[in-house]
Amino acid sequence: MKRLAVFASGEGSNFEAIAGACAEGRIAAEVVLVVCDRPAARVVARAAAHGIETFAFDPKGYASKADYEREIVALLDSRQVDLVCLAGYMRLLSDVMLDSYEGRIINIHPSLLPAFKGAHAIEQALEYGVKIYGVTIHYVDRTMDGGRIISQQAFPYEGHDMAELEAMVHALEHELYINTINKLIAESRI
Ligand code: GAR
Repeated sequence: MKRLAVFASGEGSNFEAIAGACAEGRIAAEVVLVVCDRPAARVVARAAAHGIETFAFDPKGYASKADYEREIVALLDSRQVDLVCLAGYMRLLSDVMLDSYEGRIINIHPSLLPAFKGAHAIEQALEYGVKIYGVTIHYVDRTMDGGRIISQQAFPYEGHDMAELEAMVHALEHELYINTINKLIAESRI
């Protein structure tokens, strides 16, 4: 059984999809740790409901990003984490995390990268009037939403309803994250 950590900052619907799939045996892995940089975020309560250990911290309580990332790396090491899944974790990682875990950290992003990087991808794509939307999962490097792409899925949408589009993107994200973790396991890439 592979051991996963999920990093999130907010709602945690991707966390929920991954943890649920693990619990139901649809992924041959276990979520052993959740890391969250906003202690009041919904994902913290979701992790508690699953009984999953959570490191919820306030970055303002640390002198630097390197300081809290050293704590995170120590936790990942001691829990023998095989794969770190960023799922709406809205912070760039520093050398501390990447020096230890590069190649074992993946991220999900709600656009067809390299288009629409950043925190407002769905909104920007809708404003732009794109006709094909999508979701990307990629390895994480030192850049925002950069790194080699592992999987992508697209769908056509010509409506103008942000809530409807968001729901479609999130449903696709959940499916793609589960399939991508399974693919990495099946190909012995973790
Ligand atoms: C997801 O749509 C994810 O792709 C996005 O944040 C959302 C988190 O939702 N990430 C990014 O935009 C990264 N640049 P969730 O908390 O419900 O999983």
